[in-house]
Amino acid sequence: MRDVLNGQEMKQCDENTMKMGMLSAVLMERAALSVVKEIMERYPDDDTRILTVCGAGNNGGDGIAVGRLLALQGYEVGICFAGNPEKMTTETARQMKIAKNYNVPVLTPEEAFQENWDVIVDALFGIGLSREITGKYADIIKELNVYYEGAGKIAVDIASGISATTGEVLGTAFQADVTVTFGFEKRGQLLYPGAEYTGALKVEDIGFTTESLFDIIPGLHVLEKEDLDMLPKRTAHSNKGSYGKLLLIAGSEGMAGAAVFAAKAAYRMGCGLVRVATVESNRAILQQLVPEAVLAVYNDTTDVVKFVETQLAWADAVAVGSGIGQSALSEKMVKTVIEQNTKPCLFDADALNLISKNPEWLQFLKNGAVYTPHLGEMSRLIGTSIAEISKDLVGAALQYAQKNHVVMVLKDARTVTATEKRGCFLNLSGNDGMATAGSGDVLSGVIGALLAQGMLPEDAAPMGVYLHGLAGDAAAKKLGRHSMMASDIVDGITDLLKEQ
Ligand code: ACO
Repeated sequence: MRDVLNGQEMKQCDENTMKMGMLSAVLMERAALSVVKEIMERYPDDDTRILTVCGAGNNGGDGIAVGRLLALQGYEVGICFAGNPEKMTTETARQMKIAKNYNVPVLTPEEAFQENWDVIVDALFGIGLSREITGKYADIIKELNVYYEGAGKIAVDIASGISATTGEVLGTAFQADVTVTFGFEKRGQLLYPGAEYTGALKVEDIGFTTESLFDIIPGLHVLEKEDLDMLPKRTAHSNKGSYGKLLLIAGSEGMAGAAVFAAKAAYRMGCGLVRVATVESNRAILQQLVPEAVLAVYNDTTDVVKFVETQLAWADAVAVGSGIGQSALSEKMVKTVIEQNTKPCLFDADALNLISKNPEWLQFLKNGAVYTPHLGEMSRLIGTSIAEISKDLVGAALQYAQKNHVVMVLKDARTVTATEKRGCFLNLSGNDGMATAGSGDVLSGVIGALLAQGMLPEDAAPMGVYLHGLAGDAAAKKLGRHSMMASDIVDGITDLLKEQ
C-alpha cells in the first residue's frame, strides 16, 4: 500500500524536511535535476529548443533551475518568466539571479511566444495553486496548449491548473505528456480530470524521508499487488463452512442477470456458500446458470419480512440491491435488512435508491455497512448534483462515511473507498472495458464474498474494489476492452486468483 498526498500534506512534508536542516535550494536543485534527466532521456538531441515557463512561486524556481541545467547540457534554452516579479519568492529570486549570471536567456511571454520551441516545460504553478486561473495566466496556458500543440510537454511537479488535492481543473490547465513529481504522488494527478492532464507520471526521490512525514497522517492510499496477502487464506483442514455464507438479495423479474453475476463472482472469490434470495420467476435461470447457488424464492404472496428474517439468520454476510428494483416488496425487504440485520452488509443499486427515498431508515443502520453507489446513486443519496460531487470525490465519500459511520465505495473511473478507520483508498486497477452492464453486480459479489469470509468492511471494500479492477484488467488482456462483458470480469477473477 502506498500513500498519496494532498497539496497541504505535501507542503507540510516540504517544510518538515527543511526543518530537519535540508536546504530549500538543495531540494530545488534535486527536483530540477530529476526533470532534466527525464528531458535528456526523451530528447537526447541537444539541438532541441526548450522553453521553461515559470511563475513567481517556488514551482517557478524549479523551472528556472531546469532551464539553467539544460543550458549547461548544451540545449538551446529560453526561460520565460511569466509571474509577477513583485511576488517572487526568495528561492525563485535566487534561481533567477543564478540563471542570469549563467547567461541563460530570460524572456517575457511576449518574446518567448514569437519563437518556435520543441519542448515546453511547465513551471507556472505547482502544488501552491489556490484559486481559479484567469487573465494573463489563463491566456498563457491556452497558448502553450494550442499554439505549441506539437511540442513536447513536461510539467514540473503537477500540471499548472490542476488542484493537487481534488484533481479539478481550476479554470484551465496545462496538458502534459509527462509530469515529473517529487517524493509522492499527489491526489490531483491520479483523480480525474487531473489524471488526463498529467500524462505519464514519474515520481522522483529528491531527499524526502519517512521523518518528512512524521506529523502527517496521509488520508489517501493506493492498494498494490503485495496487499493481496491480506486475502483470506485457504487451509487444508477446512470445509465449505470455513469460507462463509453469503446471502444475496438480488434480481427481480427481468433482472435475473444481476443475481447471476453477483453469485458467480462471490463463488469465484472463494465464498463457501451463496444463497440467492430472488423472485420465483428467476428460479429456472439461476438454477441453470449458477447451479452452485442455493435459492430462496419469494413471490407476491410471500410475507417478505419473515422471509428476509429467516435468510438473515442463516447468513454470515449480506449483499442487497443488485437488480431488485424499487417495488413495494423490495422496499419492505430493504427496510427489514436495515432494521433486523446484525451481520456485515453491503447495499448496492436500488437498495441505495430506496434508502435515498427513505432517509429515516438510516437511524436503524448498524455501523460499518458498505455502500457502493455510482455517481448517480450518490447524487440521490446526498441530494447534490453529480457535477458538484465530481469536484471532490474523496471529500464527498469521506464526508458521507464519517457522518453515517458506513464504508463508502463511490464508483467512478477511479473509485474512491472512504472508511472511518483506515482513511480513503483510490483504486488504480481496472479499465474502461468495465463500463458495462453487470459490472457493479460483480463488485457486490466480490465484496460480499470477502465480508462472508470474515474480512472487516473497511478492509473488504477497498480490497474488493482493487480485485474487481484487476479482474477487469485480466479480462481486457485476454479480450481487449471493447467487447468485455460482466461475465468476462467474473472469469478474470479466476485468472487473477489462480496464483494465490
Ligand atoms: N493565479 C495567480 N496566482 C496564483 C494562483 C492563481 N490561480 N494560485 C496561486 N497563485 C500564486 C500564489 O501567490 C501562491 O503564493 P502564496 O502561496 O504565497 O499565496 C503561488 O502562486 C504558489 O506558487 P507555487 O509555485 O504553485 O507554490 P509554492 O511556492 O508553494 O511551490 C513547490 C510549490 C513546493 C515548489 C512544489 O510544487 C514543488 O515543485 N516541489 C518540489 C520540491 C521543491 O522545490 N521544494 C523546495 C521549494 S522551496 C520551499 O518550499 C520554501
